[in-house]
Amino acid sequence: MNLKKMVGIEAAKYIQNDMIVGLGTGSTAYYMVEEIGRRVREENLTIIGVTTSSKTTEQAKRLGIPLKSIDEVSHVDITIDGADEIDEKYNGIKGGGAALLFEKIVASYSNKIIWIVDESKMSRYLGSFPLPVEVIPYGSHQLLTLFEKKNLHPVLRIDSDGQPIKTDCHNFIIDLHLEKIEKPAELSAWLNQLPGVVEHGIFENMVSTIIIGSNDGLKTIQAR
Ligand code: A5P
Repeated sequence: MNLKKMVGIEAAKYIQNDMIVGLGTGSTAYYMVEEIGRRVREENLTIIGVTTSSKTTEQAKRLGIPLKSIDEVSHVDITIDGADEIDEKYNGIKGGGAALLFEKIVASYSNKIIWIVDESKMSRYLGSFPLPVEVIPYGSHQLLTLFEKKNLHPVLRIDSDGQPIKTDCHNFIIDLHLEKIEKPAELSAWLNQLPGVVEHGIFENMVSTIIIGSNDGLKTIQAR
C-alpha cells in the first residue's frame, strides 16, 4: 500500500470550489497536488493554488492548477503539506526537502493547516529528525562554529556534487542533529534571533488536522 498516496488523496477531499489552497512540498505532498490536479481537470474544481517551492510550482503548472503568489492573495483557506516529524503536542519538524521558508510563510497566512504523513513520522519528542536551519551563505561558517560550540551537532547540507545545497532563496541549510529537543519554543526563539538565520524547521502550534496513513488505514487527528 502506498501510504503517501493514500493520505495525499484523502487530504485533497478537504478542498472545495473557490478555495485558496496552499500546496506543500515533498514526496507526500506530491500525491496531494496530483489529486488536486485531477479534480481540477475531471471535476472542474476551481481553486487558486499558492505553492511553497519551485518544485511544486512546476508540478502545479504541469497539472493546470491556477496559481498566485502569497503576496497576491488576502489569505489562504487551507494549506496541505507533509512533515518530517510530529511530536505528542503536534509540533512538527519540516524542511527535509529544503522548502521550510516558503512553507512557513504560506502556513502563517493559512486558516487551516493539514499535515499528511505516514505513521513513522509520529514521535514522542522532536529531534530524531535533524532540524533544518536555513541560513544566508554570508556568515554561515560562523554559524556552523557557533552551533558546534553549543553542541548542536550541525552539518551543512551538501548536494550530490559535494556543494552546499541552495534553497529557492539561494540560502544554505544547516541540519542540527539533536536527537531530542527538550524545549522547542526556547530553541526556536534562540535560533530566530541569530543574525544570518533566515528560518528553521520547528513548526509550533500550527497544524489543525493531521492525516496519518498506516497499513491498518487512515487516522485523522484534530490538533487544534
Ligand atoms: C519540505 O521542505 C518538507 O518540509 C516536507 O514537507 C517534508 O520534508 C516531508 O517530506 P516527505 O513527504 O517527502 O517526507
